[in-house]
Amino acid sequence: MYDGGKVVFGLALFVALCTSPLWLSVARGGGGAEAPPLQMPAPAAGKCVRDGEWMRNSHMELLNSWRDEVVREGKRSEQLADGRVIEKSLTKTCLGCHTDKTQFCDRCHDYVGVKPFCFDCHVETAGG
Ligand code: HEC
Ligand code: HEC
Ligand code: HEC
Repeated sequence: MYDGGKVVFGLALFVALCTSPLWLSVARGGGGAEAPPLQMPAPAAGKCVRDGEWMRNSHMELLNSWRDEVVREGKRSEQLADGRVIEKSLTKTCLGCHTDKTQFCDRCHDYVGVKPFCFDCHVETAGG
């Protein structure tokens, strides 16, 4: 017999699976209508260390590799594709441009429910 309920459920599941990258991106603060406004650096600060879209999804991996390269290999700087040489530093570099951690990092993290423990040790301003 034809089971309308199962068909509808199956269709709903199918649609949910097909659009899951979209839901994920909204959950990650990727521009959904409810994502909180972030304080972005002034244009004069220059571009991010990677493409903005890439950063939104992968900044944690970048920070992890920076830490490993600095702490294990002593490689403290890197040259970006555009020629800039930057220091691989969470505070000096990231917070050097994203100067207000609460209005940028924390805003998004609170929204998605992430609590990085980094600032148990690292200071929250570009000073250190
Ligand atoms: C030279 C200044 C500068 C530095 C250094 C910098 N950023 Fe950015 N960042 C920007 C700008 C400007 C944007 C917005 C640019 C865009 O969309 O291209 C941005 C975008 C981002 C975004 C995406 C935000 C969004 O929702 O669009 C994240 C996340 C981010 N940065 C994290 C970091 C982290 C983590 C570091 C250090 C590893 C860092 N940034 C270093 C200037 C900087
Ligand atoms: C647009 C949203 C957004 C912004 C802005 C943002 N983050 Fe994140 N961050 C995330 C998301 C989402 C995760 C969790 C990713 C995951 O679990 O895959 C995350 C995870 C992290 C993690 C890993 C935490 C863990 O426990 O694994 C670190 C470290 C981190 N962010 C640092 C920063 C710093 C530093 C800034 C500001 C310079 C920043 N983030 C700005 C969205 C953001
Ligand atoms: C238990 C303390 C502690 C915690 C927690 C911690 N770090 Fe660190 N981190 C250090 C120390 C110590 C260094 C070495 C400092 C140096 O040599 O300049 C360092 C170095 C780094 C560096 C390279 C140097 C710099 O100036 O940034 C990065 C990047 C970094 N950590 C990222 C992170 C991230 C991301 C997290 C959270 C996911 C984190 N750390 C959590 C203690 C800590």
